[in-house]
Amino acid sequence: MHIIHVVGARPNFMKAAPVLAALGRFPQVKQTLVHTGQHYDANMSEIFFQQLEMPAPDLNLEVGSGSHAQQTAEIMSRLEPVLLERQPDLLLVYGDVNSTMASAVVCSKLLVRVGHVEAGLRSRDRTMPEEINRLITDQLSDLLFTPSPDGDENLAREGIAREKIHLVGNVMIDTLVRLLPRSAGHKPPGLPERYALVTLHRPSNVDDPEWLGALLRALAGVSDELKVVFPVHPRTRQRIAALGPGALPEGLSLLEPQPYLSFLALQEDATVVITDSGGIQEETSFLGVPCLTLRENTERPITVTQGTNVMIGRDLALMQKEVRRVLRGEKKKASPIPLWDGHAAERIAGIVAACGS
Ligand code: UD1
Repeated sequence: MHIIHVVGARPNFMKAAPVLAALGRFPQVKQTLVHTGQHYDANMSEIFFQQLEMPAPDLNLEVGSGSHAQQTAEIMSRLEPVLLERQPDLLLVYGDVNSTMASAVVCSKLLVRVGHVEAGLRSRDRTMPEEINRLITDQLSDLLFTPSPDGDENLAREGIAREKIHLVGNVMIDTLVRLLPRSAGHKPPGLPERYALVTLHRPSNVDDPEWLGALLRALAGVSDELKVVFPVHPRTRQRIAALGPGALPEGLSLLEPQPYLSFLALQEDATVVITDSGGIQEETSFLGVPCLTLRENTERPITVTQGTNVMIGRDLALMQKEVRRVLRGEKKKASPIPLWDGHAAERIAGIVAACGS
């Protein structure tokens, strides 16, 4: 059985690593790893392959950046000949990035079966490019691996046959469980005991200069009470630079995007995390660290109902209030989320291998 995995952007790597390892234990499975090149900076890609101990990609399509249409089209036209030549039995795609959706479209037209890892998540916000990617990928997939029961319900509501859906748990947590013991020495030096860890990269937060400026000022307000540690996504760095000189308030210093182990260590020890990322809502919930999400909706509602996540929306006063609440020691109660246990990839591998026999 020949499986091609397609990865492209930073969060894919943490999701694919455990699945590659788990499938590697089946001698009848041959695996090929394709990197689309959506993320190409060493600190957005290569360092993750090293730290996650992933095999180097067999192929890099080197698509690079572009508009959504350009990037999607490049991935499609460069992946098609690879699939025609290599004739896989199954393509595995991960999460909700452009590389995921583009690959699923190419595959389904070539009648190659598609498995989607992290299927069924819905924000119900079609202004998010990721939501479009999720909807299309799930419609085209033959095997849908969901991280939580809300995913199963969303898929059933959209008419996906029950027998295609497999509730397996969260593969990103597999990687966290494996590497947490190794992260301890990786925290950047010189940080105080208490700090807020911030990440921002969603178009809805960083593409509107007025809102981005307001957000940065609000974060500077937080930094009056608590040191703010802010590793900056390249997209956000460009947007902050475009605001012009002096736009970055005093009290905020920017770090480079952090490697996996450093970011994990930063999350584990953070007093509070302020973010618009999807994966970080999950990781903080697992770690029991308070998370304030700067978005009006989430495709991961289980992190709110059972985890540590609090939705802040665009209410910056609420952000301040929630930070103060955390500083007073009033933490939201969280409970462990079923199947977020470090073994999701093994469950996926078992199902995939059984399909091929
Ligand atoms: C992508 C995903 C998003 C995911 C995020 C994690 C889509 C639609 N979005 O968003 O779901 O949460 O990755 O990081 O697929 N850039 C660099 N170096 C890089 C990569 C990007 O400088 O290695 C810059 C480019 O100028 C690019 C911009 O960042 O235009 C945005 O990159 P892109 O991959 O298009 O989307 P992300 O915003 O990273």
